[in-house]
Amino acid sequence: MDQELKAEMKRLTALGLHQRCVEGGLEKAAALTLEINRLKKEKKAVICAHVYQTPDIILGVGDLVGDSYKLADDCRRTAADVIVFCGVHFMAETAKILNPGKKVLVPSSNAGCSLSESITGEDVRKLKAEHPGAPVVTYINTSAEVKAESDCIVTSANAEKILRRVYEKSDKVIFVPDRFMGANLAKALGKTPGKDIILWKGTCIVHEQFNPELIKVYRKNHPGLAVLAHAECPSDLIAAVDFMGGTGDMMRYVENTDASGYLLVTECGFGELAKLRFPKKNFIAMCRLCPYMKSITLESVLAALRDPSYPEVTVPADIAAKAKVAIDRMFELAA
Ligand code: 13P
Ligand code: SF4
Repeated sequence: MDQELKAEMKRLTALGLHQRCVEGGLEKAAALTLEINRLKKEKKAVICAHVYQTPDIILGVGDLVGDSYKLADDCRRTAADVIVFCGVHFMAETAKILNPGKKVLVPSSNAGCSLSESITGEDVRKLKAEHPGAPVVTYINTSAEVKAESDCIVTSANAEKILRRVYEKSDKVIFVPDRFMGANLAKALGKTPGKDIILWKGTCIVHEQFNPELIKVYRKNHPGLAVLAHAECPSDLIAAVDFMGGTGDMMRYVENTDASGYLLVTECGFGELAKLRFPKKNFIAMCRLCPYMKSITLESVLAALRDPSYPEVTVPADIAAKAKVAIDRMFELAA
Protein backbone atom coordinates (compact mmCIF):
# COMPACT_ATOMS: atom_id res chain seq x y z
CA MET A 1 0.00 0.00 0.00
CA ASP A 2 1.10 3.54 -0.80
CA GLN A 3 2.95 5.16 2.21
CA GLU A 4 0.90 8.35 2.00
CA LEU A 5 -2.35 6.38 2.17
CA LYS A 6 -1.03 4.35 5.11
CA ALA A 7 -0.13 7.55 6.97
CA GLU A 8 -3.62 8.99 6.27
CA MET A 9 -5.25 5.82 7.62
CA LYS A 10 -3.13 6.19 10.75
CA ARG A 11 -4.19 9.83 11.11
CA LEU A 12 -7.88 8.95 10.77
CA THR A 13 -7.50 6.07 13.24
CA ALA A 14 -5.89 8.42 15.78
CA LEU A 15 -8.96 10.66 15.39
CA GLY A 16 -11.16 7.71 16.35
CA LEU A 17 -12.42 7.06 12.82
CA HIS A 18 -12.07 3.31 12.90
CA GLN A 19 -13.97 1.04 10.45
CA ARG A 20 -17.23 1.15 12.44
CA CYS A 21 -18.04 4.78 11.76
CA VAL A 22 -16.70 5.19 8.25
CA GLU A 23 -18.92 3.97 5.44
CA GLY A 24 -17.00 1.75 2.99
CA GLY A 25 -14.05 1.24 5.34
CA LEU A 26 -11.09 3.26 6.50
CA GLU A 27 -8.96 2.74 3.39
CA LYS A 28 -11.66 4.18 1.13
CA ALA A 29 -12.21 7.12 3.50
CA ALA A 30 -8.46 7.79 3.72
CA ALA A 31 -8.11 7.90 -0.08
CA LEU A 32 -10.95 10.45 -0.20
CA THR A 33 -9.75 12.63 2.70
CA LEU A 34 -6.21 12.70 1.25
CA GLU A 35 -7.45 13.98 -2.08
CA ILE A 36 -9.94 16.45 -0.54
CA ASN A 37 -7.26 17.92 1.76
CA ARG A 38 -4.84 18.22 -1.19
CA LEU A 39 -7.46 19.98 -3.35
CA LYS A 40 -8.38 22.27 -0.46
CA LYS A 41 -4.82 23.64 -0.39
CA GLU A 42 -4.63 23.91 -4.18
CA LYS A 43 -7.91 25.86 -4.41
CA LYS A 44 -7.52 27.87 -1.18
CA ALA A 45 -10.76 26.30 0.08
CA VAL A 46 -12.09 25.92 3.60
CA ILE A 47 -14.56 23.23 4.65
CA CYS A 48 -17.34 24.22 7.07
CA ALA A 49 -18.94 21.21 8.73
CA HIS A 50 -22.09 21.31 10.84
CA VAL A 51 -22.11 18.89 13.79
CA TYR A 52 -24.84 16.77 12.11
CA GLN A 53 -22.41 15.75 9.36
CA THR A 54 -20.74 12.35 9.59
CA PRO A 55 -17.50 12.11 11.64
CA ASP A 56 -15.42 11.26 8.54
CA ILE A 57 -16.34 14.70 7.13
CA ILE A 58 -16.09 16.61 10.42
CA LEU A 59 -12.81 15.12 11.60
CA GLY A 60 -11.29 14.02 8.31
CA VAL A 61 -11.65 17.22 6.27
CA GLY A 62 -13.57 19.81 8.34
CA ASP A 63 -11.77 23.10 9.11
CA LEU A 64 -14.58 25.11 10.71
CA VAL A 65 -16.87 22.89 12.79
CA GLY A 66 -19.83 23.78 14.97
CA ASP A 67 -23.45 24.84 15.25
CA SER A 68 -25.20 27.29 12.89
CA TYR A 69 -24.08 30.32 14.88
CA LYS A 70 -20.42 29.35 15.14
CA LEU A 71 -20.23 28.48 11.45
CA ALA A 72 -21.78 31.79 10.39
CA ASP A 73 -19.47 33.67 12.76
CA ASP A 74 -16.35 31.74 11.67
CA CYS A 75 -17.21 32.34 8.00
CA ARG A 76 -16.95 36.08 8.56
CA ARG A 77 -13.24 35.72 9.31
CA THR A 78 -12.05 33.14 6.80
CA ALA A 79 -9.33 34.15 4.34
CA ALA A 80 -10.15 31.26 1.98
CA ASP A 81 -11.25 31.88 -1.62
CA VAL A 82 -13.75 29.01 -1.62
CA ILE A 83 -16.14 27.90 1.15
CA VAL A 84 -17.35 24.31 0.84
CA PHE A 85 -20.35 24.11 3.13
CA CYS A 86 -21.06 20.66 4.55
CA GLY A 87 -24.39 21.56 6.07
CA VAL A 88 -27.69 22.61 4.58
CA HIS A 89 -28.45 25.21 1.94
CA PHE A 90 -29.65 28.02 4.24
CA MET A 91 -26.31 27.83 6.11
CA ALA A 92 -24.38 28.15 2.84
CA GLU A 93 -26.60 31.05 1.77
CA THR A 94 -25.76 32.80 5.04
CA ALA A 95 -22.05 32.21 4.33
CA LYS A 96 -22.50 33.71 0.85
CA ILE A 97 -24.33 36.76 2.22
CA LEU A 98 -21.44 37.32 4.63
CA ASN A 99 -18.83 36.68 1.90
CA PRO A 100 -20.27 37.98 -1.39
CA GLY A 101 -16.86 37.84 -3.10
CA LYS A 102 -16.16 34.19 -2.29
CA LYS A 103 -17.23 31.06 -4.10
CA VAL A 104 -19.60 29.03 -1.86
CA LEU A 105 -20.43 25.41 -2.67
CA VAL A 106 -22.81 22.90 -1.07
CA PRO A 107 -21.77 19.37 -2.03
CA SER A 108 -25.36 18.15 -2.58
CA SER A 109 -28.41 19.34 -4.47
CA ASN A 110 -30.66 17.83 -1.78
CA ALA A 111 -29.44 19.74 1.26
CA GLY A 112 -32.72 21.56 2.00
CA CYS A 113 -34.46 21.89 5.38
CA SER A 114 -38.13 21.40 6.23
CA LEU A 115 -38.14 24.57 8.35
CA SER A 116 -36.59 26.67 5.63
CA GLU A 117 -39.06 25.30 3.08
CA SER A 118 -42.09 26.02 5.32
CA ILE A 119 -42.14 29.78 4.69
CA THR A 120 -41.62 32.32 1.88
CA GLY A 121 -40.88 36.03 1.80
CA GLU A 122 -44.50 36.64 0.79
CA ASP A 123 -45.71 34.77 3.93
CA VAL A 124 -43.62 37.11 6.09
CA ARG A 125 -44.97 40.18 4.29
CA LYS A 126 -48.52 38.99 5.04
CA LEU A 127 -47.68 38.44 8.73
CA LYS A 128 -46.24 41.96 8.92
CA ALA A 129 -49.41 43.38 7.38
CA GLU A 130 -51.54 41.46 9.91
CA HIS A 131 -49.40 42.60 12.88
CA PRO A 132 -48.22 46.10 11.98
CA GLY A 133 -45.25 47.33 13.99
CA ALA A 134 -44.33 43.91 15.42
CA PRO A 135 -40.64 43.15 14.78
CA VAL A 136 -39.89 39.94 12.86
CA VAL A 137 -37.39 37.69 14.63
CA THR A 138 -36.42 34.87 12.30
CA TYR A 139 -34.68 31.56 12.99
CA ILE A 140 -31.60 31.16 10.82
CA ASN A 141 -33.18 28.02 9.27
CA THR A 142 -34.79 30.14 6.52
CA SER A 143 -34.07 31.25 2.97
CA ALA A 144 -32.27 34.52 2.18
CA GLU A 145 -35.60 35.84 0.86
CA VAL A 146 -37.23 35.31 4.29
CA LYS A 147 -34.22 36.79 6.11
CA ALA A 148 -34.51 39.86 3.88
CA GLU A 149 -38.04 40.47 5.27
CA SER A 150 -36.83 40.15 8.88
CA ASP A 151 -35.59 42.55 11.54
CA CYS A 152 -33.27 40.16 13.30
CA ILE A 153 -31.99 36.60 12.79
CA VAL A 154 -31.46 34.17 15.68
CA THR A 155 -30.04 30.68 16.07
CA SER A 156 -30.80 28.13 18.77
CA ALA A 157 -27.67 29.41 20.54
CA ASN A 158 -28.96 32.95 21.08
CA ALA A 159 -32.74 33.01 20.43
CA GLU A 160 -33.77 33.45 24.06
CA LYS A 161 -31.17 36.14 24.76
CA ILE A 162 -32.05 38.10 21.62
CA LEU A 163 -35.79 37.82 22.12
CA ARG A 164 -35.40 39.22 25.67
CA ARG A 165 -33.62 42.23 24.16
CA VAL A 166 -36.29 42.68 21.47
CA TYR A 167 -39.09 42.52 24.07
CA GLU A 168 -37.46 45.44 25.94
CA LYS A 169 -38.80 47.65 23.14
CA SER A 170 -41.82 45.73 21.80
CA ASP A 171 -44.84 44.05 23.36
CA LYS A 172 -45.47 41.78 20.39
CA VAL A 173 -42.97 39.86 18.24
CA ILE A 174 -43.42 37.75 15.10
CA PHE A 175 -41.22 34.64 15.43
CA VAL A 176 -40.83 32.39 12.38
CA PRO A 177 -40.81 29.66 11.18
CA ASP A 178 -40.45 26.96 13.91
CA ARG A 179 -43.66 26.66 15.89
CA PHE A 180 -42.14 24.27 18.43
CA MET A 181 -39.08 26.39 19.10
CA GLY A 182 -41.39 29.41 19.24
CA ALA A 183 -43.62 27.71 21.83
CA ASN A 184 -40.55 26.64 23.88
CA LEU A 185 -39.20 30.19 23.81
CA ALA A 186 -42.62 31.63 24.69
CA LYS A 187 -42.70 29.38 27.76
CA ALA A 188 -39.18 30.37 28.82
CA LEU A 189 -40.03 34.07 28.42
CA GLY A 190 -43.53 33.94 29.92
CA LYS A 191 -45.16 35.00 26.63
CA THR A 192 -48.46 33.86 25.17
CA PRO A 193 -48.47 32.42 21.62
CA GLY A 194 -51.03 34.21 19.45
CA LYS A 195 -51.01 37.27 21.72
CA ASP A 196 -47.51 38.55 22.37
CA ILE A 197 -45.60 36.08 20.19
CA ILE A 198 -46.96 35.33 16.72
CA LEU A 199 -45.79 31.95 15.42
CA TRP A 200 -45.64 30.26 12.02
CA LYS A 201 -46.47 26.59 11.30
CA GLY A 202 -42.99 25.26 10.38
CA THR A 203 -41.47 22.19 12.00
CA CYS A 204 -38.26 20.22 11.73
CA ILE A 205 -39.01 16.75 10.32
CA VAL A 206 -36.28 15.29 12.52
CA HIS A 207 -37.10 16.80 15.90
CA GLU A 208 -40.89 16.75 15.63
CA GLN A 209 -40.88 12.96 15.72
CA PHE A 210 -39.27 12.25 19.10
CA ASN A 211 -41.54 10.51 21.59
CA PRO A 212 -41.58 11.86 25.18
CA GLU A 213 -42.90 8.50 26.48
CA LEU A 214 -39.58 6.87 25.54
CA ILE A 215 -37.70 9.25 27.84
CA LYS A 216 -39.55 7.74 30.84
CA VAL A 217 -38.41 4.26 29.76
CA TYR A 218 -34.78 5.36 29.36
CA ARG A 219 -34.83 7.13 32.73
CA LYS A 220 -36.15 4.01 34.43
CA ASN A 221 -33.46 1.85 32.85
CA HIS A 222 -30.58 4.32 33.37
CA PRO A 223 -30.66 6.03 36.78
CA GLY A 224 -28.72 9.30 36.78
CA LEU A 225 -29.28 9.82 33.06
CA ALA A 226 -29.02 13.42 31.78
CA VAL A 227 -31.55 14.02 29.01
CA LEU A 228 -30.71 16.81 26.56
CA ALA A 229 -32.95 17.91 23.69
CA HIS A 230 -32.67 20.35 20.84
CA ALA A 231 -34.92 23.43 21.07
CA GLU A 232 -36.70 22.35 17.85
CA CYS A 233 -38.43 19.50 19.75
CA PRO A 234 -42.12 19.77 20.68
CA SER A 235 -42.92 21.29 24.10
CA ASP A 236 -44.30 18.06 25.64
CA LEU A 237 -40.92 16.46 25.03
CA ILE A 238 -39.03 19.50 26.33
CA ALA A 239 -41.07 19.27 29.54
CA ALA A 240 -39.54 15.81 30.11
CA VAL A 241 -35.85 16.73 29.64
CA ASP A 242 -33.09 18.18 31.86
CA PHE A 243 -31.69 20.60 29.31
CA MET A 244 -32.94 22.31 26.15
CA GLY A 245 -30.64 24.15 23.77
CA GLY A 246 -28.88 24.24 20.44
CA THR A 247 -26.19 21.76 19.49
CA GLY A 248 -23.39 24.03 20.77
CA ASP A 249 -25.08 24.36 24.18
CA MET A 250 -25.72 20.61 24.30
CA MET A 251 -22.05 19.85 23.58
CA ARG A 252 -20.94 22.27 26.33
CA TYR A 253 -23.41 20.67 28.76
CA VAL A 254 -21.88 17.25 28.09
CA GLU A 255 -18.36 18.66 28.46
CA ASN A 256 -19.09 20.42 31.77
CA THR A 257 -21.13 17.76 33.57
CA ASP A 258 -20.43 14.29 34.84
CA ALA A 259 -23.67 12.33 34.47
CA SER A 260 -23.72 8.51 34.49
CA GLY A 261 -25.15 8.67 30.96
CA TYR A 262 -26.44 11.13 28.34
CA LEU A 263 -29.52 10.79 26.21
CA LEU A 264 -29.11 13.16 23.25
CA VAL A 265 -32.45 13.90 21.63
CA THR A 266 -31.36 15.27 18.29
CA GLU A 267 -29.86 14.29 14.93
CA CYS A 268 -27.63 11.17 15.02
CA GLY A 269 -24.45 12.90 13.80
CA PHE A 270 -24.35 14.91 17.03
CA GLY A 271 -24.17 11.76 19.15
CA GLU A 272 -21.47 10.26 16.90
CA LEU A 273 -19.34 13.36 17.36
CA ALA A 274 -20.00 13.55 21.12
CA LYS A 275 -18.84 9.91 21.48
CA LEU A 276 -15.61 10.69 19.65
CA ARG A 277 -14.98 13.90 21.60
CA PHE A 278 -15.75 12.34 24.99
CA PRO A 279 -14.83 8.65 24.69
CA LYS A 280 -15.01 8.08 28.47
CA LYS A 281 -18.60 9.29 28.74
CA ASN A 282 -21.61 7.05 28.33
CA PHE A 283 -24.04 7.92 25.54
CA ILE A 284 -27.47 6.34 25.13
CA ALA A 285 -28.88 6.58 21.63
CA MET A 286 -32.14 8.38 20.87
CA CYS A 287 -31.51 10.01 17.56
CA ARG A 288 -32.93 10.45 14.06
CA LEU A 289 -31.17 11.08 10.78
CA CYS A 290 -31.66 14.32 8.88
CA PRO A 291 -31.93 13.26 5.22
CA TYR A 292 -30.83 16.71 4.08
CA MET A 293 -27.68 16.80 6.19
CA LYS A 294 -26.88 13.21 5.32
CA SER A 295 -27.09 13.84 1.55
CA ILE A 296 -23.47 15.05 1.82
CA THR A 297 -20.69 12.46 1.73
CA LEU A 298 -16.91 12.48 1.32
CA GLU A 299 -17.50 11.50 -2.33
CA SER A 300 -19.81 14.46 -2.92
CA VAL A 301 -17.36 16.85 -1.23
CA LEU A 302 -14.60 15.64 -3.56
CA ALA A 303 -16.84 15.93 -6.62
CA ALA A 304 -17.75 19.54 -5.75
CA LEU A 305 -14.12 20.53 -5.16
CA ARG A 306 -12.90 18.85 -8.34
CA ASP A 307 -15.46 20.26 -10.76
CA PRO A 308 -14.64 23.86 -11.79
CA SER A 309 -18.21 24.27 -13.09
CA TYR A 310 -19.92 22.90 -9.94
CA PRO A 311 -22.95 25.20 -9.32
CA GLU A 312 -22.21 27.96 -6.82
CA VAL A 313 -24.59 29.24 -4.14
CA THR A 314 -25.94 32.60 -5.31
CA VAL A 315 -28.10 35.23 -3.62
CA PRO A 316 -29.47 38.24 -5.58
CA ALA A 317 -27.65 41.39 -4.43
CA ASP A 318 -30.78 43.28 -3.26
CA ILE A 319 -31.96 40.32 -1.14
CA ALA A 320 -28.45 39.70 0.22
CA ALA A 321 -28.09 43.34 1.29
CA LYS A 322 -31.39 43.29 3.23
CA ALA A 323 -30.73 39.84 4.74
CA LYS A 324 -27.27 40.97 5.87
CA VAL A 325 -28.79 43.77 7.95
CA ALA A 326 -30.87 41.20 9.88
CA ILE A 327 -27.90 38.81 10.25
CA ASP A 328 -25.60 41.61 11.46
CA ARG A 329 -28.25 42.57 14.01
CA MET A 330 -27.98 39.01 15.36
CA PHE A 331 -24.19 39.30 15.75
CA GLU A 332 -24.66 42.63 17.50
CA LEU A 333 -27.35 41.40 19.94
CA ALA A 334 -25.73 37.99 20.56
CA ALA A 335 -22.37 39.50 21.49
P1 13P B 1 -27.88 24.27 15.66
O1 13P B 1 -27.61 25.66 15.29
O2 13P B 1 -28.29 24.09 17.10
O3 13P B 1 -26.70 23.40 15.34
O4 13P B 1 -29.13 23.73 14.85
C1 13P B 1 -29.15 23.60 13.47
C2 13P B 1 -30.19 22.70 13.02
O5 13P B 1 -30.48 22.60 11.84
C3 13P B 1 -30.88 21.90 14.01
O6 13P B 1 -31.74 21.02 13.42
FE1 SF4 C 1 -33.58 21.29 8.99
FE2 SF4 C 1 -34.30 19.62 10.92
FE3 SF4 C 1 -32.45 18.86 9.19
FE4 SF4 C 1 -31.90 20.77 11.03
S1 SF4 C 1 -32.36 18.61 11.40
S2 SF4 C 1 -31.41 20.82 8.86
S3 SF4 C 1 -33.90 21.80 11.14
S4 SF4 C 1 -34.62 19.31 8.71
